Amino acid sequence: MDHASFTEICLQQLKMSGVKDGERLIVLTQGSERLNYADAFLAAGQRLGANMYHMRLPAPLPSDGWAVGMTGLSEMPDAVNALKNCDMLIDCVFLLFSPEQFAIQDAGTRVLTAVEPPELLARMMPYPELREKVTIAAEMLERAKVMRITSPHGTDVVYKLNTYPTVAEYACTDTPGRWDHWPSGFVFTGGDDDGVDGTIVVAPGDILLPQNLMVREPITYTIEKGWITDISGGLEAEIVKSYMDSFNDPRGKGMSHVGWGMNPNAKWHNFVPGEFPGGMGMEPRSFYGNVMFSTGPNNELGGTNDTACHLDIPMRNCSLFLDDSPVIIDGDIVVNEIQLTKS
Ligand SMILES: [Fe+2]
Repeated sequence: MDHASFTEICLQQLKMSGVKDGERLIVLTQGSERLNYADAFLAAGQRLGANMYHMRLPAPLPSDGWAVGMTGLSEMPDAVNALKNCDMLIDCVFLLFSPEQFAIQDAGTRVLTAVEPPELLARMMPYPELREKVTIAAEMLERAKVMRITSPHGTDVVYKLNTYPTVAEYACTDTPGRWDHWPSGFVFTGGDDDGVDGTIVVAPGDILLPQNLMVREPITYTIEKGWITDISGGLEAEIVKSYMDSFNDPRGKGMSHVGWGMNPNAKWHNFVPGEFPGGMGMEPRSFYGNVMFSTGPNNELGGTNDTACHLDIPMRNCSLFLDDSPVIIDGDIVVNEIQLTKS
């Protein structure tokens, strides 16, 4: 995407994120990655009268390795202080799950993550109705005490919802301290630590992330009191088990966040495994009417399980009930107040 077009979508994004004349913005990048994102955001912010600069971290050394939650910022309190003192951080590195990001948000800085390919950002722009409906959906989920998910392939699982907060992602942020991820469009919460029981059958066409695989043979998960006790099926079940075993951490068998996708501009079928524009999978996480469950850590929601073994699994054609009321039937949202059409 050329600079002018990229600047145009960043301008729309910053308007949706409430950027005003005189606000202080910082765009964060690392190494030689996404320098064009910084250029586009700086040009867009300037047009809105924001005071901005680009903070560029060195590329990590090959010997540093990489894991979610690790950033070069941990060694640089001065840089973290600068980020705490601005109004909005545009994170083109992916600070998510790092202690630094939590500290920056606690200081009142709003944070927008933008790391997906520009073409995907353009196709999945935030818009007022998306924000409005996702917010209503989050309120519904927040009130619910029990979530039940079923599917024609044999899923029947119950999550008790008395412990964790609900998170709404609608791809922009104009509230101090609030984080969001562009693109997105979904809601989630987590089941009680010992409160998830039943069977989940991941069906052909459902998606394993971060493997970026569409499943071809069903995977059957047996879940008792919040823990996976059995995984069976064909090739993809073997891949999941092998992946989980590689962490040598039994907490990878815990149940993580659960919720549903609401973005009508996200395509399920356009997700081509291993091919651009796949990115890190925000499109399959967001497609309208998906039910996404995940396994592993719950520290993102305030729980104690911080295992690095994490899978997100958006599923098609499921039905989802909150306190016995249908929200999604066969992969379509049936509650009027949260239905959306393409922007
Ligand atoms: Fe996740």
